[in-house]
Amino acid sequence: MSGSDWLEALVAPAGAELLGRLAGEVLTPETELRVGARLRRDYPAELVSAALAQHELRRHAREKFTRAERMFFTRAGLEQATAEVVARHRAARFAGVARVGDLCCGIGGDLIALASQQDVIAVDRDPLHLRMAMLNAEAYAVAEAVTAVHADVREVDLRDIDAVFVDPARRTQDSRTQGSRTQGSRTQGSRTQGSRIQGSRTQGSRVQGSGAQGSRMRAGASEPPLSWATSLVERVAAVGIKAAPGIARDAVPPGWEVEFIADRRNLKEAALWSPALATATSRATILPAGHMLLPLPGHQVQHRDPGAFLLDPNPAVTRAGLVEDLARGLGAWKIDPQIAFLSSDVALRTPFARTLRVLDSRPWDQKALPSRLWALDIGSVDIRRRGLAGNVENLHRRLKLRGTRRATLVMTRVEDRPWALICVDLPPPTELLS
Ligand SMILES: C[S@@+](CC[C@H](N)C(=O)[O-])C[C@H]1O[C@@H](n2cnc3c(N)ncnc32)[C@H](O)[C@@H]1O
Repeated sequence: MSGSDWLEALVAPAGAELLGRLAGEVLTPETELRVGARLRRDYPAELVSAALAQHELRRHAREKFTRAERMFFTRAGLEQATAEVVARHRAARFAGVARVGDLCCGIGGDLIALASQQDVIAVDRDPLHLRMAMLNAEAYAVAEAVTAVHADVREVDLRDIDAVFVDPARRTQDSRTQGSRTQGSRTQGSRTQGSRIQGSRTQGSRVQGSGAQGSRMRAGASEPPLSWATSLVERVAAVGIKAAPGIARDAVPPGWEVEFIADRRNLKEAALWSPALATATSRATILPAGHMLLPLPGHQVQHRDPGAFLLDPNPAVTRAGLVEDLARGLGAWKIDPQIAFLSSDVALRTPFARTLRVLDSRPWDQKALPSRLWALDIGSVDIRRRGLAGNVENLHRRLKLRGTRRATLVMTRVEDRPWALICVDLPPPTELLS
């Protein structure tokens, strides 16, 4: 099947029936061959192949979307799509805005969240992604609020739009040679538009694949470029931009807010907010609960030797440059001016850091480590290294562990001296988890 015929074939009754038969199946390479052969007795081979590829993408998509089983994806579109929990959090910034432009809507991860609260103009130059965005909006029953525009975002008229959200495609080394149009390795598509798609304003040589391959986000390499996205503020005051979590702080224009968003302890992405939407200079947000940490100016945070507890800040806090602000809020201290660990003598509980109970804390002495661990009955360790070089694998082997307890061995610096701490996790209170 050529173009995006495979997608339309999957949406048609026979394709929908076939996907329905696959729903819930967990296929291994072996069972897939068997299931494929069985299905080919009832359906055309190409349709079966397209359905199997889509089924696999839907299975992966369950990590991001609660309705993945009813959605459509390309591999690149899924990799770059915003997870539902993040999209919902971010869309809340646009609450009360009548019409939002979702520029570079992809397969619709952000679009779904935006369209559940307002009218959205969804723009993408990849017709396959745009079609999927509409189908995916239907899966969440929000398509009524969406107008799809097939265009290069740089050519869209923004006069009737009250706010824009931009999620540029991340460019990787191979993005110039690979488009975003395959759904997997088996099939590919290129274009078919649904009836609600308004028309293609940009065609020809500039309309190419999204350059959206690759799962790693590289800060500073996007299409369209970040500088284009931030300049939108000259046309629309309220601008939100999704950016790579590795974004350089000097890429954030003056007066804009940079928000770092983690799902539990996994740093997911950054968002830039133009002055009309910004409420701080930086922010750390921890999902799914939506805990937010803002700058807390005040006294200089002290640094001294570790106390009875060590706090390991969430990566969103560290990236947002809010470690000292967290320390001030908690009444904790730093163990070194350069290292993002905090300490305290009381068991502080916070959604913004993992709290560890310190069992042993002293200057680094590798020879003495095994006996210290044996004395504490430690049989397995997670080694966490911050500010201290060393081969973790080698160290692991040399510890010759033989106890029954599990611990975290922290290799770090205290007042610039190499240091070792043996710690155990304090489980977070349940109210901090949800
Ligand atoms: C990162 S994805 C968007 C993901 C989306 N926010 C989601 O959650 O599903 C980027 C999209 O930008 C589109 N794109 C890249 N450059 C574009 C341009 N100049 N005009 C329109 N769309 C563009 C690509 O086709 C791709 O679908």
